[in-house]
Amino acid sequence: MKLLVTAGPTREAIDPVRFISNRSSGKMGYAVASAAAGKGHEVRLISGPAAIEVPEGISIVTRVVSATEMLASVHANVDWCDALVMSAAVADMRPAETSSSKIKKDGSTRTLKLEPTEDILLSIASLKHDRVFVGFAAETERLEENARQKLEAKGLDLIVANDVSATDAGFEVDTNRVSLIERNGSVEKWGLQSKSEIADRIVKWIEDYISSRRSQSSS
Ligand code: CTP
Repeated sequence: MKLLVTAGPTREAIDPVRFISNRSSGKMGYAVASAAAGKGHEVRLISGPAAIEVPEGISIVTRVVSATEMLASVHANVDWCDALVMSAAVADMRPAETSSSKIKKDGSTRTLKLEPTEDILLSIASLKHDRVFVGFAAETERLEENARQKLEAKGLDLIVANDVSATDAGFEVDTNRVSLIERNGSVEKWGLQSKSEIADRIVKWIEDYISSRRSQSSS
């Protein structure tokens, strides 16, 4: 299988020294890339700024900073893949203007005007065909309901939902507690596990999904 994985946060520049971003460490996406490479799959990783060593066996690593760069890199690679795991926490908003020089303080209150970034998954919906698209949902409330809405709106096969308000799961830590919601409506709740265990199981889910579709189409 050819697997494209996105990981980490994106950074949206305010000026040459400041940016807005989020708490994503990239651990979950790197764990998925590592699990897939360990099982002999071809993996391309698109990574936002993350302080993690690239796992062995990844064929191509593209480093990006902003949501716009991640969008361009996903577009350049999506045709190649059989499956995409979009675990990056892409910034939804960016400063409407980026200053080319450092903004100096002058004691006054400032307002930062933000504009929406493009939704990467929505932008590639027409390129899906028989590719498997897996998304992540970071939620702090109504986990299943919100995640299911994202699965439908973004045309995904699977969404991995996590409650990012817990302290032992979600952003930054090595463990996570996720629910897997499939397109057919089935929901599986997994207890607290390491991100590498979750990654192994997500890769297994994709392998099984692809092989069950193959056997359905050949019967
Ligand atoms: N995503 C994306 N492009 C964006 C934002 C998110 O492709 N501009 C992807 C993420 O990589 C993830 C999924 O969409 O796989 C859901 O991301 P999430 O941050 O949970 O939700 P949003 O769609 O950004 O919605 P909201 O922030 O309102 O919860």
